Parts: sequence; C-alpha cells; structure tokens
Amino acid sequence: MAGSFDTKTKMTPPIRKAVFPIAGLGTRFLPATKASAKEMLPVVDKPLIQYAVEEAYSAGIRQMIFVTGRTKRSVEDHFDTAYELENELEVAGKHALLAVARSIAPEDMLCTYVRQPRALGLGHAVLCARELVGEEAFAVLLADDLMVGKPPVMAQMVEQFAEWRSSVLAVQDVPREHTRRYGIVSGQAVADNIVDVSAIIEKPEPAVAPTTLAVAGRYVLTHGIFKELEALPRGVGGEIQLTDGIAQLLRREKVFAFRYSGTRYDCGSKLGFLQATVDLGEQHDEVGVEFSQWLARRA
Ligand code: G1P
Repeated sequence: MAGSFDTKTKMTPPIRKAVFPIAGLGTRFLPATKASAKEMLPVVDKPLIQYAVEEAYSAGIRQMIFVTGRTKRSVEDHFDTAYELENELEVAGKHALLAVARSIAPEDMLCTYVRQPRALGLGHAVLCARELVGEEAFAVLLADDLMVGKPPVMAQMVEQFAEWRSSVLAVQDVPREHTRRYGIVSGQAVADNIVDVSAIIEKPEPAVAPTTLAVAGRYVLTHGIFKELEALPRGVGGEIQLTDGIAQLLRREKVFAFRYSGTRYDCGSKLGFLQATVDLGEQHDEVGVEFSQWLARRA
C-alpha cells in the first residue's frame, strides 16, 4: 500500500494543505452568479468559501490552495488584508467589527491561488494544484457543501487519516433516487463508520447504483491521486472526474469511506442554500432568537 506516511517512524504527518476548487461557473444560481463568484454567496453573514476555509483551519490546516477561474477575484480579496476597511473601523472605534474583519485571514494562514484555465472538471481542478501540494497527502473541500459538525467534519477526517493512513472520503447515505447526483461507493465495513472501498462510480442512475452511500464534498487524498488524474481520459461531458481518479487509485492503494457525523447542506442548490440559511440563521448569536420567534409566528 502506497500511503503517504513515513515508513521509518510510522508517524502519520498531519494534513497541512487544503485545495478548494472554485473555478465552477455556478449556473444553478443565475442570475446571482453572472458576474460574481458563487462561493461568495453569504449564508447569513459569511460567504460559503469562508465556512469551508474555517473548517480546514480548525482541522489544523494552514495552507489554503484555491483553484480559481474568471470572476473569482472577490475570493482573493476576501482573504486579503483590507487596509482601508480596517483603518476606517479603527478610526471609528468599531473594535468588534475590526476583529471580525481581521479574523478572516489569521496571520498563520497562507492563501495561494492557481488558475484552472479551462473548466475541465473537478479532477482537472485538483490536478491544477499539484505543484502547490507537492508530495504529501492533502484535503479537498467543495465549498458548495456546507458542513456543520462537532468536531468540524474535516477535523474528523484528518483523525481518520491518521488512523488508516490512506485516502479518506466523507460519505453519507442518500435516498436511492438521488444517486445520480453523487459519487457512489461500495465496499466492506471495517469499523463502525468506516468502509474499505472496493469501487466508486460517478453519478450512477438509481437502478444501477451499487449502494446509496454517497460522497460528500470532503476528501483527504494521498498525492498518488495526481498520477492517476494526469493519465485519465476525459469522462462524461468531456470532464476529468475526481471520482474516476479515485477509482484508478484504488488499484494501487487503500481508500476508506468515512460516515462523518454532522449535517451537510447542498448549497449548490437553491433548496439546500435556503435550508442552511434558516438553520444557521436560527443559531446565529446576534439574530438567532428573534429570527426563530419570527419563524414560529408565521408557522
Ligand atoms: C461532485 C463530485 C461527486 C460528489 C459531489 C459532492 O459533484 O463529482 O462525486 O458526490 O461533488 O457534492 P458535483 O456536485 O460537483 O456535480
């Protein structure tokens, strides 16, 4: 098994880098996404991408690698220092807001950007991060999937990676009629929440889906994935699928599917986005109580 751990010490190095593929066009959210990044759509008061970055950060990850495209400059600006804003807040004595502005990019966090020149799929986006990732295992977070978990889902996954020393995919059970929206895995249960994956297939029709265990947008992958992605022919829709790369990786390495604990909101869909907004709105420090009361009154 070609995992990415140090065979001399048997120590699993921590996951240090996270890849955020954000070059997608976000057509499901038109007209909102015509000229702006879908990852900047706010759920209550925070853009989707910030939820994902905070999740990675709380898993101990400090290097964030964004695979960007046109219309995504606002993401770079969001994680950059906003001197004018900070200055104005400071002069106005708005210290709480100043702390919020500064907390977006903690000093020990490094943001790097690479362009995906053409929209050739999720696998291709991950491949674009190859030089920045180098020869180590890394995380992939799809910001469309907003995950709420305690501990945060990526922290749970990094713990599983340390245990199994192989790639780990976040999975959840979905209704059979939804298999065509996801990568679907099958395999052998080897622990409570862990399946030793034997096969993975992208978006099968419900009638032919081997299981209803679906990949959510969180992955910890060994660097072996790059070699597989590089050699892949284009799949469905001319795209290089991450799922197909993982299917190839399975021939050389173990891959585990992990039933995470937490809630996933599919913020790539309008319904999921609204559900996230209501749930997180109700939990929000500042407006939660009043919002819940308002919801109750109109029920
Ligand atoms: C992508 C992956 C799919 C995965 C899903 C999770 O699909 O290709 O395997 O299950 O993310 O959200 P997308 O939603 O980008 O079509």
